[in-house]
Amino acid sequence: MNDNKIAIIDFGSQTTQLIARRVRELGVYCEIFPCTVLVDAIEKFAPKAVILSGGPASVGQKFSPKMPTGLTDLNKPMLGICYGMQLFVNAHGGQVDAVESREFGRAEITTDPASLLFKNLPPDLTVWMSHGDQVHHLPDGFETIAQSSTCPYAAVAYSPKQFFGVQFHPEVVHTSDGKKILSNFLFEIVGLLPSWEMKSFLQDQKEQIRKQVGKNKILMALSGGVDSSVAATLIHSAIGDQLTCIYVDTGLGRLNEAEEVENLFKDQFHLDLNIVDAKAQFYDALLGVTDPEQKRKIVGKLFIDIFALEAKKKNQIQFLGQGTLYPDVVESVSAHGGPSAVIKSHHNVGGLPEDMHFQLVEPLRELFKDEVKILGLMLGLPKKLIDRQPFPGPGLAIRILGEVTPARCQLLRKADAIVREEIEEAILKEEITKNLWQWFAVLLPVRSVGVMGDGRTYGETIAVRCVESIDGMTADWVDLPKSILGRISNRIINEVRGISRVVYDISSKPPSTIEWE
Ligand code: XMP
Repeated sequence: MNDNKIAIIDFGSQTTQLIARRVRELGVYCEIFPCTVLVDAIEKFAPKAVILSGGPASVGQKFSPKMPTGLTDLNKPMLGICYGMQLFVNAHGGQVDAVESREFGRAEITTDPASLLFKNLPPDLTVWMSHGDQVHHLPDGFETIAQSSTCPYAAVAYSPKQFFGVQFHPEVVHTSDGKKILSNFLFEIVGLLPSWEMKSFLQDQKEQIRKQVGKNKILMALSGGVDSSVAATLIHSAIGDQLTCIYVDTGLGRLNEAEEVENLFKDQFHLDLNIVDAKAQFYDALLGVTDPEQKRKIVGKLFIDIFALEAKKKNQIQFLGQGTLYPDVVESVSAHGGPSAVIKSHHNVGGLPEDMHFQLVEPLRELFKDEVKILGLMLGLPKKLIDRQPFPGPGLAIRILGEVTPARCQLLRKADAIVREEIEEAILKEEITKNLWQWFAVLLPVRSVGVMGDGRTYGETIAVRCVESIDGMTADWVDLPKSILGRISNRIINEVRGISRVVYDISSKPPSTIEWE
C-alpha cells in the first residue's frame, strides 16, 4: 500500500475531499495536504504523483494560494484540476485571465484520443465546468489535449514534467467519464497499482494498534453511533479485553437505545462494556432549562464530567480510543489560503479535563464515512447499525422544545419510534426512493384541543421531520407519500397517550436547520 499513494494539494476547492474519495474508490491511497504545506512533508509522504485541486481564487490575485515551493522539483507526475491547472500553467509562463462569462455546469469537449489521459474514451465527452478564469495562452512545450467551443484549453499536457491539466472537474459525477479520466491518470500515466483495500487496512490497523498500545489499556466512550461502534469493534478485534468501553445512559437517547447497545456489544461482541445510568443526573441538570444552547452546554459538560469520573475509577488506563474520521482531521484551507487556514478539530468526547493525560488511539482517522461503513460491515456489525441515521450528541434534549422532563422524553421516544418504524418500513418496501438523511419526531411546546371518543383532550403536539441531504450542510424536506404521513399520524395519536396533534415540517435548510433547536 505504502508505495502506491497520491498527495492531493488543496487550494480551497469544495470538491477536494471528493477527489480523494474518487482516488480511493479506484484503490489508491491518498492524503490531502493544504497548499501551505512545506514540500519536505510531501517528500516524506513519498507519493507517486500529485493532484492539484481547484480553488476559488484567481492566480493573478496578490494573495492567491501558491504552489508549495519546490513542488515541481520533486519531478512527480501531476494532474492539475481547474485552479490547479491554471496555477501550473501560469508558473510556467502561460497566461490565465478571467473569461467574459463565467462557466458553470455541463460542457461538451473534444479530446485528443492519442492522449493517455483520455485512453479508451470516445473523443466527445460531457464534462462539468465551474470557473471564472481560464488559460488564454499556453507556454512553449505545452500541448492542448481537449477543447470546447468556449474553452480552447479544456485539457493540456506538458510532457517534460509529466504534467496534465484539466479545466473541468473529473471528480464530480456530472463529468460522465470523470472516474475513467482519473483512472487513466493513476494507472496509465503514473503506473500505479490499485492496492488500497479495506482488508489490508484492517490488518494494518490491528497491527498498529497492538504496537501502539502494547500491554496497556484503552478506554473509550461508546455512543452506539457508527463511528464509535466501528472504532471500538476494530480496537477490540486487535487487543480484546485491554479495551474498556463506557456507555453513558443520559436518558436522552431513543427508544431502547441503551438496551440495544448492551445487547450488541456486551452480549454478542463480548466487549468489556460499562453502562453508566446517569439519567437522573441529566434530568436534574436540565430541570427548568429551555434555552437550546444552554441545553447543549449542560449535556456536553455533564457527559464529560461523568466520563472523566468513570475513567478515574479505572486503574492503569493510558489510552483513549476515539472514532475520529478523516474529514474531522484534514486541514481545511480558507478561500484565500495562507495564514487564515484553520484545522477543524472535532472529537467525539469533547474537551476532556486537563488532568486526564491520555494518548489517543484513532484507528479511523484516515477514513471517509463511506469507508468506515464498509469496514464496519467487514467487522460483522449489523447493517441496521451501519445505516443508522445521524443522531445529535445532546439527543432528545434538543428535540424537546421547552422543558426537558422524563415524562416528555418518554412521549417523544414513543412518537419517534413510530416515525422511524414507518419510514424504515417504507424504505424497505421502496415506497420511498429518496436518499434520506434524517427522519425523526420533535415535541413542540404547544398544546391543542382534540376530541377522542366523547371527550375533549388538550394534548401535546408532535412535528415529524424527514429530510434528504448529502452532508447535513443543506437539506430538503421530503415530500412523503400521503399514505405514509397518514399512517404515522394515526399511529402517534392512537398509540401515544398525551399527543393530540401531528404536524409535518416542510422547511428546507437553509433557511431552517434540520434540528429544531
Ligand atoms: P442542523 O440542525 O444544524 O444539523 O441543521 C445539522 C446536522 O448536525 C446534527 N446536529 C448535531 N450533532 N451535536 C451533534 O452531535 C449537536 O449539538 C448537533 N446539532 C445538530 C443534526 O442532527 C444534523 O445531522
